[in-house]
Amino acid sequence: MRVLATKRLPGEAWNELRHVEIGILDERRDDIEILIAANETVDEAVLDLLPSVRLVANFGVGYDRIDIAACRARGIAVTNTPGVLDAATADLALALMLAARRRVVEGDALVRAGRWDTHWSESPFLGHEVSGATLGIVGLGRIGSAVARRARGFDLRVLFSRRTPSADPSYRKLDELLRESDIVSLHTPLTAETTGLLSRERLALLRDGATLVNTARGAVVDEDALVDELVAGRINAGLDVFVNEPKVPEVLLGLPNVVLTPHIASATVETRAAMTRIVVDNVLAFQRGEPLKTPVQ
Ligand code: 8YV
Repeated sequence: MRVLATKRLPGEAWNELRHVEIGILDERRDDIEILIAANETVDEAVLDLLPSVRLVANFGVGYDRIDIAACRARGIAVTNTPGVLDAATADLALALMLAARRRVVEGDALVRAGRWDTHWSESPFLGHEVSGATLGIVGLGRIGSAVARRARGFDLRVLFSRRTPSADPSYRKLDELLRESDIVSLHTPLTAETTGLLSRERLALLRDGATLVNTARGAVVDEDALVDELVAGRINAGLDVFVNEPKVPEVLLGLPNVVLTPHIASATVETRAAMTRIVVDNVLAFQRGEPLKTPVQ
């Protein structure tokens, strides 16, 4: 079965695949039966170019850019890579919290620019405490739970909100969580329900000086409203994801109160190799006619 991949994926497992070609999704190919995507858009137009495809294996846990309904209608199976990137993503969420609140990136730039003022008491470089702060986790799935475990080690008080209400004393409705938290970290998938979940009105509920961390998907937040809050300097943020990646709203580039990373939450050697392992296992299972390891439908 011929396989088309949008990228060569990292890690040893890749070498187990046969008949793979690396290419872009811009010409009709009647011979391709398996498509390996890495978070690229797979919509009706792409599927029209690949009429023989029967499996789309995504390198990533989020599959918001794959038109699942269109795949289903055409009898195409879809797989993702759940479970193996929880730790790496939670680690980056913590890194962004710490960096934003303790002004790590600003401090680094200041030192490199030779602007370190030894009379520190005259120009204090003050951030906000992490220890003892209240962290609100939006979405308590695998990744959100991994963030909660780490947060306890930093003596954060942890609250959470999620789609299904809970009797747990740490559960809050989303609006209450936003009002009560010093730090808010987003861990929902991007779905019709979560698009724009952090609307302009909801962002306004955040406390002055609050920190918003997004390692989920840019479109979970009203990005224009977030930019306005950051330009006003009312809140600070650590952002790994954006609405139109790799484009980042230009105005953010000049702001000191936002830490920007290029969608690297799962980007460690170990995690990326484990993601490739799952992609390859799904492809091999499909080629042997065995059940898929991690089907999304
Ligand atoms: C990307 C991710 O898929 O797993 C996800 O949902 O967003 C990431 O792991 C990865 O960067 C490949 O593009």
